[in-house]
Amino acid sequence: MHRFQDENLDIEDRVKDLINQLTLDEKLTLFPGVRAWWTRKIKRLSFPNMGMSDGPNGVSLHSSGFRKCTQFPVTKCLAATWNTNLAEKTGIAMAEEVRAVNKHILLAPGINIDRTPLNGRTFEYFSEDPFLVKEMTKPFVNGVQSQKIAACVKHYVANNQEHERFKVSAEIDKRTLHEIYLRAFEDVVKKANPWSIMACYNKVNGIYGCENPYILQNVLFDKWGFQGFVMSDWFATRYTSTEGCITAGLSLEMPTPIVYKRKLLKKGLNEGKFTEQRLDELLKMMLRIMFKTGVFSKNPPKGSRNTPEHQNLAQKIAEEGIVLLKNEGILPLDPNKKIKIAVRGRNTKKKMGRLGYGGSSAVVPPFEITPFEGLLSFPNVEIVKDPKEADYVIIFTEINHDKHEDAENSDRLQIEMPTEEENMINETKKLNSNTIVVLINGSPIAMDNWINGIPAIVEAWYPGMMGGNAIANILFGHINPSGKLPITFPKKIRDSPAHKTPATYPGTDKVMYEEGIFVGYRHYDENNIDPLFPFGFGLSYTTFELTKCELSKESLTDDDMLIITVGVKNTGEFSGAEVVQIYATDIESSVERPPKELVGFGKIFLNPNEEKTMEILVKIKDFAFYDVNLEDWKVEPGKFKILIGTSSRSIQFERVVDVQ
Ligand code: BGC
Repeated sequence: MHRFQDENLDIEDRVKDLINQLTLDEKLTLFPGVRAWWTRKIKRLSFPNMGMSDGPNGVSLHSSGFRKCTQFPVTKCLAATWNTNLAEKTGIAMAEEVRAVNKHILLAPGINIDRTPLNGRTFEYFSEDPFLVKEMTKPFVNGVQSQKIAACVKHYVANNQEHERFKVSAEIDKRTLHEIYLRAFEDVVKKANPWSIMACYNKVNGIYGCENPYILQNVLFDKWGFQGFVMSDWFATRYTSTEGCITAGLSLEMPTPIVYKRKLLKKGLNEGKFTEQRLDELLKMMLRIMFKTGVFSKNPPKGSRNTPEHQNLAQKIAEEGIVLLKNEGILPLDPNKKIKIAVRGRNTKKKMGRLGYGGSSAVVPPFEITPFEGLLSFPNVEIVKDPKEADYVIIFTEINHDKHEDAENSDRLQIEMPTEEENMINETKKLNSNTIVVLINGSPIAMDNWINGIPAIVEAWYPGMMGGNAIANILFGHINPSGKLPITFPKKIRDSPAHKTPATYPGTDKVMYEEGIFVGYRHYDENNIDPLFPFGFGLSYTTFELTKCELSKESLTDDDMLIITVGVKNTGEFSGAEVVQIYATDIESSVERPPKELVGFGKIFLNPNEEKTMEILVKIKDFAFYDVNLEDWKVEPGKFKILIGTSSRSIQFERVVDVQ
């Protein structure tokens, strides 16, 4: 037995032994991937391979050896739960499924910031707000890695649009880059220690992600002390150089050799462009993770997939992530009364879980409960054809995963739904005023063309394989909606931050991030623009009152934690959950700061008339801005306003603290 095979030894000893035993040629074969999802084996040393699988919504068919797996709701829906425990459970469940298809790395989570609502991959990402992204991502990564499966946090960084994604350069000033686009990556690297990171397709300030020395070597490795390894996005190295990637810190080129062809690596070595020691460094980063994920283990964990537990979890995420956007008293429907329902809309009977549908995140489940099937599971529902004969019409509508909708590799062309869908809604509401719209989609929709006269709107996202049940449970009040928007819904695309000029979106070879730090609600607040539905918004079948608010301290240093005690009372007739949100703003600052920024949140469940107090911890460090002179975060001494509310536009308490 080789030393590296001895599972009782320390990982560092095993890595050292392995590196000593590998010949140069063998080492070089480990730099590129093979067969789409694998690293290479080395027979001579009985050296096994490490396998990867997409993606953020569960294990994708194309990378699972064509095995069906649990299709979870999309990341946007998970984000809308604002439930960090659910994020951890999701990470655990997805990792168990990765293990069950004999892979070692989950190519998720995707944590890019929502800059434009038209980004084709909005559904795969958490939020427009870096704080919400980082607080949901850390437990997700911890969950995945608790199963000895590596998370691969992607796409590092500023892959904020699909339009020209292989070539475009995101032009971002340093403060914005750190404060908005790198912030979640930074906190996740420092606190959750992800075992791998995927470098993006696009350029960042003129240099491709896979060979960007600032983004990789300077920031990720030197400043943040990243302990995992970097792989490329699939074919993201095609316009880069061998030397650039090796120098910047790319360990693994996926999925096949382009710049990490053996002869190119040898040439670089011979010409003194980099040293064998550098190659060893990069390789060791990956080998450590191979040990951690049990690639060399004789008895690796077994994993499981398509279990009732995973399917129930998928339903629970949908039930907590669905957002009630509008309700003029029409919902919930009464499950105990016979009711006639007419159904309409493109997505009524549509199954979303199809091979490649929407891109690399597509998961194909063993079965999928459509919205229609969910309705039929309620015995008192009678489906009728004619909207005029129905008690209610339910329209399951919106965009799909087709090209130029919610799909990888293209952006949406408009924020409105297709005109035929809008017309259909408007015609239907003339026939029946009890018309309820259930949106099935993963990115914001403008609704001005049809919203008037529609008494209820439910945002169901892409709710996964159990989605039909989750939607029906919400419509009939078995579940009280508690999801809150993780992204602003603007009234029109011109209102949103990236859409000032063609140079700011879609750009040509460059896309200019001129809005700076004013992304998402920071932009709507700063420019006094009324959104259609604000960040953090979501209705319930009950009502909540915030009854009190106390701060643990009023004078603090930047190392302190503030405990905010909030009383919450359920003043309505349904049990349900409320998300209390804490925002902060610097009253006097030497640099421009947004009117408010999320710094804390908590979710609480209450029965009718019940009142509880919740404690929300806020770190003063989260009040910081990125100081370009210091090249670090800075909390400027002075007064900060703390805003406590139930959405970014519904603030119930204001307090002031003094930071020394
Ligand atoms: C996507 C990644 C994905 C990879 C492998 C790329 O096109 O951008 O998110 O993990 O393909 O499917």
